[in-house]
Amino acid sequence: MVFDPIQNPPDSLLSIPLSEAEDTQNPLLYRPQKTESKEKKGHTHGHLGATTCQDGHVHMHPGVTSTPIETEEGHIHYLTGNTTFDDGHIHQYEAYTSIPIPMPGGYHTHYVEIRTTMDDGHTHVIKGFTEPSTS
Ligand SMILES: [Fe+2]
Ligand SMILES: [Fe+2]
Repeated sequence: MVFDPIQNPPDSLLSIPLSEAEDTQNPLLYRPQKTESKEKKGHTHGHLGATTCQDGHVHMHPGVTSTPIETEEGHIHYLTGNTTFDDGHIHQYEAYTSIPIPMPGGYHTHYVEIRTTMDDGHTHVIKGFTEPSTS
């Protein structure tokens, strides 16, 4: 029989009493509440893909942008993170996206071009478009 955690969840997942599941002191069960501050409202964009190839390897850069930052030309997003660990090291990156690039169906994307930090004697470039989102 194939183990399917959706159809047949293990008993341990079903046996958490509701009162314990609501225990905000338990770090394994705590779910942060949504903040209502103005800066935190709005959409985000996922980003993923590979860096340019340097020294015979690439890194992946999965992540999510910040919520919108308004500018006179349109909104932008901030993104920062670590690449995946490849060839014995990681790199860090930090940048702002372009302003929105309209797409069909009310979606838009943003262009990003980042040079990573220098690690193991080299840098990589991350270049491409964020995942589409509606505003
Ligand atoms: Fe590298
Ligand atoms: Fe956006």
